[in-house]
Parts: sequence; structure tokens; C-alpha cells
Amino acid sequence: MPYMQPRGGWIELICGSMFSGKTEELIRRVRRAEIARQTVQVFKPALDDRYSVSKVWSHSGVHCEAEAIESASEILTRLRPGTTVVAIDEAQFLDWVVAEVADELATRGLRVIASGLDLDFRGEPFGPMPLLLAQAEMVDKLHAICVVCAAPASRTQRLINGQPANYNDPVILVGAKEVYEARCRDCHRVPGKPGKDE
Ligand code: TMP
Ligand code: MG
Ligand code: ZN
Repeated sequence: MPYMQPRGGWIELICGSMFSGKTEELIRRVRRAEIARQTVQVFKPALDDRYSVSKVWSHSGVHCEAEAIESASEILTRLRPGTTVVAIDEAQFLDWVVAEVADELATRGLRVIASGLDLDFRGEPFGPMPLLLAQAEMVDKLHAICVVCAAPASRTQRLINGQPANYNDPVILVGAKEVYEARCRDCHRVPGKPGKDE
């Protein structure tokens, strides 16, 4: 449920593993804001070109128009007068300035809806997400279903040629089902992770 603040703005954060429905939930909130005759701008990092650079797509196929940005500060420069709701998908790919931008917008009285991966494939906090998590008035952590044991999944497993990716692999690798699957803590594997026997 969106946080109701009679005056002023706020930050809502939707996080969780891949395939947990984050983008679908973001789009649902955007649609509801539009029905409520709010003026919404949706942003996404240009880096995520999986389906289209000018659209936000969920794994289930739900999509909406979005403005692709190279850096978080572009949100402020592209902001139109009259916009009351700002949605940001895949926030984990943006620079840390996104937390300052979200804070500035909320302080100006806008509603900010951000979504992104809280953890990378190594099971470590992803980019600026920890800052957004701390600043948000409201946080929803969504779960997918572990493909191995069917428990609620909080982690994302990266698979390269069917094998768990090594801890030292680059953090950013844009993709979907061909490289990633949802897993629970127990079934998540990260060979080479310091302090873990694999
Ligand atoms: P999704 O959360 O909307 O499914 O998209 C997550 C995107 O992040 C997807 O393009 C894969 C990418 N990704 C990385 O770049 N590194 C990672 O460690 C993980 C788990 C995902
Ligand atoms: Mg998504
Ligand atoms: Zn499992």
C-alpha cells in the first residue's frame, strides 16, 4: 500500500531478487497514480537495454514508457514542471547520486517510487540500493520462488554455461532467464566467495 502523507513527498522502495515482480509492482503503482490524475515520469538506466531503451519491461511482459538516463542527476534536469510522481526502475544500475536525487525530490514534495535488486549475484548489496533502503519511508521486499527447492527466493543465482558464476566475475551482466534464476539462501551458490567453502 502506498504510504499516505497528507503533506510533502516520500520515497517508496521495491526490492528483491530477480523474477520477484519488482517491475510489475512499479508499473502497477504508476498506473494507479495515472488513474488518480497524477503526472508521472518514469526513468530507467540506459544500461538496461534488454527489451527496449525507452520502455520498462517486466519478466511477465507488462511494460510502460520510460526515459532512459545515463546518470542519476539527469532525473533532475529532465524533470518537467507539474510532475508529482517519479518512478525509477533498475535503480541498482545508477550511480550513488540517485539517493541524493530521490531525497531532494521527496523533500520538494514529490512521490518517488524506486525499484531495484537489493543484492547482486554474489549476495552482496547492489550499487546505491543500501542508501535508498535507508532513506525510504516504505520498503517492500518481494520474493520469487527458488527454482531448486520452491522456497521463497531472496537471492539471484548467475549461471554461466549452467555452472554457478564465480565471485570474481564482473557484477554487471545484463540478462534474464538465460543467465539468472531465483534461489533461496540455502540453494544459492557463489564459488570463490571469501569465507565460504564451496
Ligand atoms: P530485474 O531485477 O528487473 O530482473 O533485472 C535485473 C538486471 O540486473 C538484469 O539485467 C540482470 C542484471 N544483474 C546484474 O547485472 N548483476 C547481477 O549480479 C544480477 C543479479 C543481475
Ligand atoms: Mg525488473
Ligand atoms: Zn532453495
